[in-house]
Amino acid sequence: MGEKHIARLEPVGIELEVDEDETVLQAAFRQGLMLMHGCKEGQCSACKSFLLDGEVDLDRYSTFALPDFEEAEGYTLLCRAHALTDLEIELLHYDEEMLRSGVPPRHAVTTIEAIEPLTHDIKRLVLRLADAERLSFQPGQYVDIAIPGADGEHRSFSMANTPSTGDRLEFMIKLYPGGHFSGLLGDGALAVGDELEIDGPYGVFTLRETSPRRLLFIGGGAGMAPILSLLVSMAEKGSERAATYYYGARNERDLFHLAEIELLAGELPDFRFVAALSESAGDGWSGESGLITDVVDRLEEGLEDVDAYLCGPPPMVDAAIALLLARGTAESHIFYDKFTTTADT
Ligand SMILES: Cc1cc2nc3c(=O)[nH]c(=O)nc-3n(C[C@H](O)[C@H](O)[C@H](O)COP(=O)(O)OP(=O)(O)OC[C@H]3O[C@@H](n4cnc5c(N)ncnc54)[C@H](O)[C@@H]3O)c2cc1C
Ligand code: FES
Repeated sequence: MGEKHIARLEPVGIELEVDEDETVLQAAFRQGLMLMHGCKEGQCSACKSFLLDGEVDLDRYSTFALPDFEEAEGYTLLCRAHALTDLEIELLHYDEEMLRSGVPPRHAVTTIEAIEPLTHDIKRLVLRLADAERLSFQPGQYVDIAIPGADGEHRSFSMANTPSTGDRLEFMIKLYPGGHFSGLLGDGALAVGDELEIDGPYGVFTLRETSPRRLLFIGGGAGMAPILSLLVSMAEKGSERAATYYYGARNERDLFHLAEIELLAGELPDFRFVAALSESAGDGWSGESGLITDVVDRLEEGLEDVDAYLCGPPPMVDAAIALLLARGTAESHIFYDKFTTTADT
């Protein structure tokens, strides 16, 4: 353990004890406080905050998340920042509803129950917790899965199921050629019965249930996972909130779970699903064509009154954020998880 300091968070006035050996974000998790975060690896900028006073040392991060000029002005990434003195930090993004809703993340051992193809490059992975344990999580959150034999290295994956089936965790995992974790699913190195260690839950891509606004979900690729978890949880609770889900894929072979989503449409009274193909669509395709953000722009009349939930590859999420801001959605009503990879560091 290193030297301890106090981090005072403004404007919420909360004080945290921070050990020099941990990041400010880790200290917050340890004390049950859910600060805004995404990747936890200095890649997505979701945890960006302003250092009003004190000194930090930053672990390695991407200058896309924190450009040098911002760092010079006093901005910092809480997922990378180690306190060298007492700190006073202004949270740029925080959510009173989320802040104190944190369940401290924990470690668990799981067994692989299923690995099945969903498309040519996305697999369904199901993990069962040992001894009928349950993982307490909120729909839309993720866990870190340790890469076997990789000395503490992990990858983050969002749950596609809901806590109602919390004794098992279900994931949608895109296969990357040469990917350290996804490669193990693609080449058969991991199989049913193998153990995987997880840490979590993490993430703030959760439904702000008290909001009166209609919901707009925009997803691509394996970004289907946390959005499906949110939609299923709405159906489980009998939610009547209006929701539209735009899902972008390249071509028809990238589409999956259409039958499950159709079932949801039967359970959610005001739900619409719009799939769009950005590349060649066969003659039989009667859905939308084009980039998913262009389709949203074309089909949506007013975007000032929505809570938007975006999930998938970082370029898709960035394009969707730009569209929503240009079309009048308040920044504080936009929630996202960028599926960053090691290539983004
Ligand atoms: C909050 C969060 C939630 C996520 N949820 C999901 C999810 O539900 N489903 C999902 O599929 N993914 C999800 N991801 C992404 C996931 O965590 C992994 O990053 C992804 O699966 C790739 O890991 P990998 O070990 O298979 O590949 P890696 O070994 O990390 O490599 C990824 C790709 O980058 C390339 N690459 C690696 N290093 C470099 C480099 N230096 N230069 C250029 N290219 C490089 C590799 O060749 C490969 O194509 C999530 C990410 C975050 C942050
Ligand atoms: S959570 Fe800190 S940069 Fe992503």
